[in-house]
Amino acid sequence: MKDKIKSIKKEIEQYSGSSEEAVEDFRVKFISKKSVINNLFEDFKKLSVEDKKEFGKTLNDLKTLAKEKLVSLSSGSTKNNTKNNTIDFSLPAEDDSVGSLHPLRIVRNNIIKIFRDIGFSIEDGPEIEEDWYNFTALNFPENHPAREMQDTFFISKDPDVVLRTHTSNVQIRLMEKQEPPMRVVIPGRVYRNETVSAKSHCFFHQVEGLYVDKNVSFKDLKDTLYYFAKEMFGSDTKVRFRPSYFPFTEPSAEMDISWKNGWLEILGSGLVDPNVLENCGIDSKEYSGFAFGMGIERIAMLKYGIDDLRLFSENDKRFLKQFRGVH
Ligand code: PHE
Repeated sequence: MKDKIKSIKKEIEQYSGSSEEAVEDFRVKFISKKSVINNLFEDFKKLSVEDKKEFGKTLNDLKTLAKEKLVSLSSGSTKNNTKNNTIDFSLPAEDDSVGSLHPLRIVRNNIIKIFRDIGFSIEDGPEIEEDWYNFTALNFPENHPAREMQDTFFISKDPDVVLRTHTSNVQIRLMEKQEPPMRVVIPGRVYRNETVSAKSHCFFHQVEGLYVDKNVSFKDLKDTLYYFAKEMFGSDTKVRFRPSYFPFTEPSAEMDISWKNGWLEILGSGLVDPNVLENCGIDSKEYSGFAFGMGIERIAMLKYGIDDLRLFSENDKRFLKQFRGVH
């Protein structure tokens, strides 16, 4: 028994060959039911208890050795196969396509570039936000129904922590820590507690704009947004401002752009309410400002004729690959 084990062990160690046949021969000889090792196990059963003690472990080691050798031989044999170009032509082709930018990223980049060109810088801020930044400092009175304009997801109550319902929270964060003049755009994700459908979603994206300096007027706001609309939607785009209401701007206006044969609302805007400036420690007699906020999804839907908001977050490759090469 001892000699047999020894010589089989040697044979296994010295075995070489990586062709499919060589590997198969190895398997038949050392691993299969009829293998030399299996025969040894048959012999083993007939041994005395003493001998069993002596050979049990060596025999098992031999079996393991054979198995490991088979694995290493067959990995050599696959490598060899590709070398020999045994390619399966019936397999589907590999997807070698390059990726694409997400449509929301494309539109976000476009918006940012338009404002960067006229001197706006880019800022961001937290999505999980204290009540102060999302509501109170923005002049939303306590228990005022204006807070219900935006269906809020609460993270905690007392202290109130929310998922921000708009990017306007970052206006406050910036004005609290920076001295005017400031001219920034703030892209980011916002959340509202709405049922997900083609027309509404529980999260979406906005770009906020804020300009604070001496003598900023409503004309500056209109000029800036008119420039934006032409850059974004084409030089013959017309704009229309309609009076509106936001607690943090006074006066407030919504801007429509001419689209096909009608008008489409694309953003909210206004002059920063003096109370908001004061809440951030900015002297409202010395400084004034304008702000605006627009939805990125809405603009992407217009530009690309997308009719279902859910497409933006489903990551369906058939949808996404249509934006290949667009930037
Ligand atoms: N925060 C407003 C919204 O989400 C948009 C807005 C921003 C309006 C800045 C005016 C000024 O609807």
